Amino acid sequence: MIYSIHSSLSSVLVSKMKIGWMDTHAHVMDASLLLQIDDVIKRCIENDVVSVTLICMSIEEIELGIRLQSKYPMLELFGGFHPVDITNDSIENYQKLEEFIINGKIVGIGEIGLDFYWDKQYRDAQIVAFRRQCELAIKHDVPINIHMRDATQEVYDIISSYKGQLRGVMHCYSGSVEMAKAFIKQGFLISLGGILTFKNAKSVIEVAEEIDLEHLLIETDSPYLTPHPYRGKLNEPSYVALVGEKLASIKNMEHFTIQTQMQKNYKRLFK
Ligand code: NI
Repeated sequence: MIYSIHSSLSSVLVSKMKIGWMDTHAHVMDASLLLQIDDVIKRCIENDVVSVTLICMSIEEIELGIRLQSKYPMLELFGGFHPVDITNDSIENYQKLEEFIINGKIVGIGEIGLDFYWDKQYRDAQIVAFRRQCELAIKHDVPINIHMRDATQEVYDIISSYKGQLRGVMHCYSGSVEMAKAFIKQGFLISLGGILTFKNAKSVIEVAEEIDLEHLLIETDSPYLTPHPYRGKLNEPSYVALVGEKLASIKNMEHFTIQTQMQKNYKRLFK
């Protein structure tokens, strides 16, 4: 109860958090999860999930996220304009986004990036929006959460053009080990999602094997990309435990070791 009064200090809470799983990327503002939010949070607690990062994709979602956070202090907020939905990135909305950062309502910007799979038409506009939000992150010294689809080289070129001033997370990473190492050099963590649990996830498993634990995070991207054995059903943050257990078996490590390192890695994003 005491925590809910100080919910805007969420990043401070990370340091006091008990050890457990963290879902570093979830969309619980999706109606499918929002309508059962009490149960979604309850199942997180039952499955040893101690923190969930909500990815808010509009000003309205950030405002809703703030209300949810006052009730559930385990929630952390990122906010930004997604590459396939940048029509809401007006100057007025950028100012609002910046105010949320200044007031500590959101602890990072995202998800942002480039998506040339779903959206080829607004390629240039995506690049402008991505750069603008990268510069906002640098200005306020906050991490970014990156969405990248069919645009690995383009995303890399933009990030590296800022010469190490950015830091953040490559969300639901499904690229090569080689590119993962290149993004790590630029100050990024590699976040693995439900795909890690799929039988045919050869390249993501290879990333989990090859990349040191100190550069990894785990997430659900719920309500999408549900891990095995619930594939095809609705995804939710409590299932991050399945991703974590799979990572533990690949690394041949205890759950506790994975949980502790994931929390340390996440904390590093906030310096
Ligand atoms: Ni997402």
